[in-house]
Amino acid sequence: MAAQINILAVDDKPDNLRLLSKMLTGEAYKVRKVTSGRLAIEAARLNPPDLILLDIMMPDLDGYQVCEALKQQPETRDIPVIFLSALDDQANKVKAFVAGGVDYVTKPFQQEEVLARVRTHLQIRQLNQSLQAQNLQLQTEVTQRQQTEAELQITLQELRDTQAQIIVKEKLASLGALMAGIAHELRNPLNFVNNYAEGSVELLNELLEDLNSTLNEPDSAELQERLIELRDNALAIHQHGQRAERIINSMMQHARSLPSEQQRVALNQLVEESFKLAYHSRRSNLPDFRVTLNANYDPSIGQIELFADLSRALINLIDNACYALYKKQQQDAAFQPMLQITTRRLPSQIEIRIRDNGTGIDADAQSRIFDPFFTTKANEGTGLGLSIAHDIVVGQHRGNLSVISELDNYTEFTLLLPLNLP
Ligand SMILES: Nc1ncnc2c1ncn2[C@@H]1O[C@H](COP(=O)(O)OP(=O)(O)OP(=O)(O)O)[C@@H](O)[C@H]1O
Ligand SMILES: [Mg+2]
Repeated sequence: MAAQINILAVDDKPDNLRLLSKMLTGEAYKVRKVTSGRLAIEAARLNPPDLILLDIMMPDLDGYQVCEALKQQPETRDIPVIFLSALDDQANKVKAFVAGGVDYVTKPFQQEEVLARVRTHLQIRQLNQSLQAQNLQLQTEVTQRQQTEAELQITLQELRDTQAQIIVKEKLASLGALMAGIAHELRNPLNFVNNYAEGSVELLNELLEDLNSTLNEPDSAELQERLIELRDNALAIHQHGQRAERIINSMMQHARSLPSEQQRVALNQLVEESFKLAYHSRRSNLPDFRVTLNANYDPSIGQIELFADLSRALINLIDNACYALYKKQQQDAAFQPMLQITTRRLPSQIEIRIRDNGTGIDADAQSRIFDPFFTTKANEGTGLGLSIAHDIVVGQHRGNLSVISELDNYTEFTLLLPLNLP
């Protein structure tokens, strides 16, 4: 059953109140009666009625003042007020509407008229309320929908990121498999080439020695010349074969290393170890090579989540730096090779900088150094070092690898690694 409709009747004359009350109770409304303006404001605030019938002429506060006060209280602002008055002139009616009343009934009133107006305003109020409720409901729905849309956007973005990562992983994995396959296939024939070339060099050297002892000078001179040419050819075949072998080993190593696992690592230590590995491996071939290391490690980095391959990338970068320093040292005996390694914790990334004061890289080469097989080390490099480092830092860690350099002056590589791995 719907709650009973509650009407507050305000009049300083008890007779009037009784009459009103009788009329309304007959229609099954619940009526509260108060005899002063002050009481009316208080009663409406404590228990807001659905409608107020308000006399104008009262001692103390008159009906207009009561109505204005009601319109100022949030609890009573929306309650419709119908004025009741014996003052039947236009100016008073206008004043009643200005004060916030919704209607005006003149005394002595007709029962039917009062009831009809009460019914109409109750209905309007009810419609208003349900409209407000619907509005509120709509607003809630719109907000919810906006929230859902925002959540969907985030999920969609996450899906896209994951998809991009899967594609990169797949690419790396299939590239790795392809490399491993090619390298494996080439390894056997290359072994033959290398072994036969090496054998031929030895054979020809022996033959040259024998010739010297068994034939006399004039006869042997021409033969000797041809044999020497043949031996040098075999030597060249051997050298180039060895270079091809290095490329293949490097490809196989690269293929094996992808994809690798994530692990927690003390980054500064990893950088230090990578330096030692790269430097000592260079020094084992170039005993007179020395470098001054200027390391500046940020102790706040501590342990961070990384892929195991990062060390490969660091070794490749440091190896390049050592090589550039060595080359410059060869040109200028007074040159002081310096390697500067800096690590830094940024708000959401780790920065590693590797700087050498070696040969530098010219602008043309700078645009190609990350390409696979680009090398300026004719017989010594494979040109895969930086392309692998790039794959590891950018493809795997979703980081950034950049270079700045000035020819004959310096080269600096900067790695940026996200603290939250993909
Ligand atoms: N620190 C550096 N100083 C000067 N040149 C550099 C430096 N690092 C890279 N380069 C240039 O970039 C080229 C490509 O480097 P990358 O490491 O990819 O191959 P590589 O060093 O030639 O061969 P590999 O790494 O197989 O020995 C190098 O040949 C060199 O010309
Ligand atoms: Mg290299």
